Amino acid sequence: MIKGIIFDLDGVIVSTDDLHYLGWKMIANRENIHFDKTINHQLRGVSRMESLNILLNHSFKVYSQTEKMQLASMKNDYYVSLLGNLSQSDLLPGALELIKYLKRKNYLLAIGSSSKNASIIIDKLNIREYFNVIVDGNDISNSKPHPEVFLTAANKLGLTSAECVVIEDAVTGIDAAKAANMITYGIGSAKNYEKTDFGIDSLYDLIDTL
Ligand code: BG6
Ligand code: MG
Repeated sequence: MIKGIIFDLDGVIVSTDDLHYLGWKMIANRENIHFDKTINHQLRGVSRMESLNILLNHSFKVYSQTEKMQLASMKNDYYVSLLGNLSQSDLLPGALELIKYLKRKNYLLAIGSSSKNASIIIDKLNIREYFNVIVDGNDISNSKPHPEVFLTAANKLGLTSAECVVIEDAVTGIDAAKAANMITYGIGSAKNYEKTDFGIDSLYDLIDTL
């Protein structure tokens, strides 16, 4: 029996992709590296340092660990400054309606995100009160597709994997949830992924379904 719903954050509840894109584009321009929306797409669900490594794969220069840390921190400072204007009106369609519906149905709710900025985003969106558990990039050592983020969320909810479902927009996130033995709902780029159990067009699709 399903008792808990674990939401990915970026791309499911809020669209921060464009802001991540602007952050990485600033680094790519500075370093003279080609970077476009297709490459940005590969960074979905991937941790900050792994995202930087994917970006730097398009450069001939070899970067030291110190240089990489500086670039990641520069990207993050810019990204966080872009988050400044985020508010509840940036929630993706159906997010608030679904969250309220699930609370009425007494499901336990969790966030399972790779982002170390999840807390800032959740507060800007003013949705913290709805979540029993928040697991983010600061709580895990292995980022998606490793199942750690979802297993930690289930554990903190006091539930087994079989009692949880995951809502994800990233292929790496679906891989992580399947590795955790959880049922998956895929939205956006994860909708038609072969490992996704149920593809959905919008979060509205889950109201009266779950
Ligand atoms: C994920 C995003 O939620 O968080 C990725 O989908 C991002 O694109 C990752 O790289 C890490 O984010 P942050 O905020 O810790 O740099
Ligand atoms: Mg996502």
